[in-house]
Amino acid sequence: VRAASPGILPIVTIDRASSKPLYQQLYEGYRRAIVERRLRAGQRLPSTRSLAMELQISRIPVLNAFEQLHAEGYFVSRVGSGTYVAASLPEETPIAPRRPASRTPVVSSSRGRLASRATALKREAPPWLKGLGAFHVGQPPLDHFPVKIWSRLVARHSRHPEPSFLHYGSPMGLASLREAVAGYLRTARAVRCEADQILIVNGSQQAIALAAQVLLHPGSELWIEEPGYWGAQNAATLAGARLIPVPVDTEGLNVALGIARCPRPRAVYVTPSHQFPLGVTMSASRRLRLLDWARQAGCWIIEDDYDSEYRYGSYPIASLQGLDQESRVLYIGTFTKIMFPSLRLGYIVLPPDLVGVFEAARRAMDGGLPTFHQSALADFIREGHFERHVRRVRQVCRERRATLVDAIRANLGKEFSVLGDAAGMYLTVTVPRGFHDREISEHAASRGLLVMPLSNCFLEKSQRQGLILGYGGTDAHEIAAGVVQLREIVTPDAGASPSRSVRHALRSASH
Ligand SMILES: Cc1ncc(COP(=O)(O)O)c(C=O)c1O
Repeated sequence: VRAASPGILPIVTIDRASSKPLYQQLYEGYRRAIVERRLRAGQRLPSTRSLAMELQISRIPVLNAFEQLHAEGYFVSRVGSGTYVAASLPEETPIAPRRPASRTPVVSSSRGRLASRATALKREAPPWLKGLGAFHVGQPPLDHFPVKIWSRLVARHSRHPEPSFLHYGSPMGLASLREAVAGYLRTARAVRCEADQILIVNGSQQAIALAAQVLLHPGSELWIEEPGYWGAQNAATLAGARLIPVPVDTEGLNVALGIARCPRPRAVYVTPSHQFPLGVTMSASRRLRLLDWARQAGCWIIEDDYDSEYRYGSYPIASLQGLDQESRVLYIGTFTKIMFPSLRLGYIVLPPDLVGVFEAARRAMDGGLPTFHQSALADFIREGHFERHVRRVRQVCRERRATLVDAIRANLGKEFSVLGDAAGMYLTVTVPRGFHDREISEHAASRGLLVMPLSNCFLEKSQRQGLILGYGGTDAHEIAAGVVQLREIVTPDAGASPSRSVRHALRSASH
């Protein structure tokens, strides 16, 4: 294996003032680097000429040191391709311990401790988040992504980059992408914005984390939906916020209960278009109530519109931000759910008076995102590919959802009722009394079904048991087969023979 380019010289120090000959210093330096495993088996070594030049010494001691390392079996030569660290070390070579035997415990800052608490909130990478498989939440229909078009756009910018693309960019994001996003949001989501209010981020998770860092003091109260998105719970915990769980009912966040629990929080986090994980759309009256109360209380609203492109039953719902007369709403959206998750591009639409402070915070953190994918995405939107892709995946997900709902009805019975509106890339289904969603999820994960337990989304003791089933990245065949497997898990006595509609779905998917 070639673990590092020969152009990268390992650190082997030499001391010209020492009485030890140079060749011996080099020999010992290389031997130590191998024993300490800084140089690994099969790694290519620099040529004696370049090493001598780099160390500004004559080539003779380098040749002598290399000769000895060869003779003792540390180095091997391959004809025509250079010198390498030997795959097997001479027998007497001691293997250096990887760490000092005793080590003082790591002392992290209070923020570091909060970070470990935030991950602990999500309880040690649970099995239903591991890998990819049927019903994993957050998988878009990647099988329908126009890879060729995307590659062409990326290649266009990579082959002939504008000089500015190779320099530091604006921490707010690439101007052409901010323009394209603003145009899209004004039209498709009724967001009131100009391009200079858009901050490009690496997904909505970063947007939530940044908003929490900038808006909340340690100890600030934040209303958070209960049940809700664990990523928002974690980001707010990391910022040191005091999380106030506010119940969600059939109209969305229950504003009156929130006021009763904590009348003056500093901010509120909501997913009004498609509440995660119950799937409800916040009613118009609740929206107005929330905005009115936020104005009176002087509080910020963080609107996470993470999957608004996926709506099937009704007309698209306008954003909360679009109704806001007071510039209290920070609107967050993402491309990871509609394009592909590893794209890591999303945005925040900031109230005008927050633009400066977010820009400064961003500059302090990372200085912005790489330019190439931003420019390709700007073209993808401007040239109409995005619009076509949204239409295509919306149709795909609509069909996948219908297949899943039918399969649940036919196989799991009435007690497994589907919650929320026809939207999104996942749905939540209740489980009958006596079932523990976590147990079902663990059992399902052992069979390759990644079904998330609803109870895991509660901060307080869970009031409800259910299963969150992602279908965006699961085709009709897998959906049908997955529901049959789920039935075997929840009703082991029912036998393994699929119902008529599932047999039909399995058949039609295989044609
Ligand atoms: C409600 C909600 N917000 C934000 C995110 C994060 O998405 P992104 O990939 O854009 O960081 C998710 C991901 O599942 C989500 O469900």
